[in-house]
Amino acid sequence: GSKDATVTVVDTILKPLSTIESAKRLAAYTAVDRHVKPEHIVIGIGSGSTVPYVVERIVQQGKEANKDRVFIPTGFQSKELIVSSNLNLGDVDQYPTIDVTLDGADEVDRDLNCIKGGGACHLREKVLAEAARTFILVADYRKNVEYLGTNFKPGVPIEVVPFAYAKVLQNLHHILGSPKATLRMAVAKAGPVVSDNGNFIIDAPFEREHMEKPYDIMARIKMLTGVVEVGLFCHMAQAAYFGNEDGSVTVK
Ligand code: 5RP
Repeated sequence: GSKDATVTVVDTILKPLSTIESAKRLAAYTAVDRHVKPEHIVIGIGSGSTVPYVVERIVQQGKEANKDRVFIPTGFQSKELIVSSNLNLGDVDQYPTIDVTLDGADEVDRDLNCIKGGGACHLREKVLAEAARTFILVADYRKNVEYLGTNFKPGVPIEVVPFAYAKVLQNLHHILGSPKATLRMAVAKAGPVVSDNGNFIIDAPFEREHMEKPYDIMARIKMLTGVVEVGLFCHMAQAAYFGNEDGSVTVK
């Protein structure tokens, strides 16, 4: 059937990858083909394991297409990616308006709200999402859900200034209804994860009732003293691309 044909095409044209990696690449390539056009000069590059495929596809557009473009990173990882791909590096303070930003997501709901910050980059990611005329999400099929929190269990990433973390945790536990909120620890619990901005990250799981209205809970978390940014991106993305296991792409 046509479904099988799609899989065959993907497998023969592209080098073999695991199903999830293929899905990420398919989402990224489709999004770049649709949204990164010759007239787009300032391009925001997000973080995570899907974004390298975005950059890979942009590089495939050729040296001529990229020579006048400038790429703005959301953190250390994407900066390295831009530099190692021989693309021009810029900063958001030079380019506060971005033509298009492409980024991954931990989960995306039916209204294109998403959880971000699995990689602790959501503050800078939100700045670049907000700066962009068009903000596009790319992910594999596991991230495509009706309600946030369906598959992604760690909860909402919250960047906090180190001085305030215990108080923010207490408020999340006792006031905002996230009794299991925890400080994110580095591998082997050697110490807290520290963001590119020198802050700590709290992961706060919420019940479905809160995740049905992510904007409301985001606003309440943002009001807590010491919170720098919340990894809930509400009404920000224009589209989300999900690579599926069968080689097709779902667009939301
Ligand atoms: C980092 C992020 C990432 O975009 C998110 O975690 C998705 O990553 P991946 O593409 O590896 O699934 O928000 O802060």
